[in-house]
Amino acid sequence: MSQPTYASQRTAPRGPGILVVTGGTDGIGRALAERRLGLGDTVAVIGRSRDKGEAFLAHARRTGAADRAHFIRADLGLLTENRRVIDRLRDAFPVIDTLVFCARYYRADRAETAEGIEETFAHFYLSRYLFGHGLADSLGRSAHPVVVNVAGPGAGLDVIRWDDLEFRDGYHGGAALGQAGKLNDLLGVTSAERYAEAGLRYVLVHPGATVTSLAGQYDEATRRHIEEMQRTAKPITQALEPIAAVVDRAPGQPLSAFVEGRELDVRTADFDVTAARRLDEVTEAFLENASA
Ligand SMILES: NC(=O)c1ccc[n+]([C@@H]2O[C@H](COP(=O)([O-])OP(=O)(O)OC[C@H]3O[C@@H](n4cnc5c(N)ncnc54)[C@H](OP(=O)(O)O)[C@@H]3O)[C@@H](O)[C@H]2O)c1
Repeated sequence: MSQPTYASQRTAPRGPGILVVTGGTDGIGRALAERRLGLGDTVAVIGRSRDKGEAFLAHARRTGAADRAHFIRADLGLLTENRRVIDRLRDAFPVIDTLVFCARYYRADRAETAEGIEETFAHFYLSRYLFGHGLADSLGRSAHPVVVNVAGPGAGLDVIRWDDLEFRDGYHGGAALGQAGKLNDLLGVTSAERYAEAGLRYVLVHPGATVTSLAGQYDEATRRHIEEMQRTAKPITQALEPIAAVVDRAPGQPLSAFVEGRELDVRTADFDVTAARRLDEVTEAFLENASA
């Protein structure tokens, strides 16, 4: 397949609208939230830290956008919290134009949430699953709905541990994040399939190594690697551009994937529809069981 050029197949630029960013209180998510606030969007950001949320609101006040800025404090590792926030967003915003996933936290040691779910699986995958489906009605009322899932598209399906999605055995923080990234690819496949008729554009984005807070609980070796990254990786302003571009002008097709602005072919085995449907069934059953 010939690779489409980066700007060849975009929709028309979107005017001011409603933007929701999970993990929008820091790093790339925060930069996007502020950029869109400056362009006239109404923006809701979600994160755990009250201080970071207040800093976002203070920025909005300084720039005359206080009435369009919202912060919802929540731990997206908890299913109950995800559902609470989704309900609140549905009430507040019958129409949502763009939903962006940026929440991420590294765990060197395996940890479980208070609900007994492995933390990376919970906040980096299940949360995105719940938000995408839970806000589908609000997105469906937008003229040009877009979901941007910022993770790391393009890995092989073999990173998925179908029999041990929560890494009970042989946990590694990088592997847990890598697997969740792949699950997000497959979430994109089924979401694009399910909501294409409603006009949804689902965009998977890998920003590349970027100097952000890169928050996490690190072991010594990983900490050294992160410190090296903080010296050598690209600045947020650079990582933001391709993401801001897909928010402004969404790709024309229901599913697309980009690594640092370079488009991937989503018709390869890495985005296999059968695997995606299998994951969808597994996730539904998991959530049903977890909520029982
Ligand atoms: N930076 C990179 O090199 C890089 C590379 C590849 C992919 N990415 C992807 O880019 C996206 C943004 O990353 P970043 O580096 O900009 O992140 P970051 O600076 O570390 O910020 C992470 C954000 O997620 C929030 N968050 C973390 N855990 C949360 C939880 N359980 N509940 C609610 N909010 C939570 C944080 O808020 P609190 O602090 O309040 O929890 C913060 O707003 C992520 O999806 C990441 O996977 C980044």
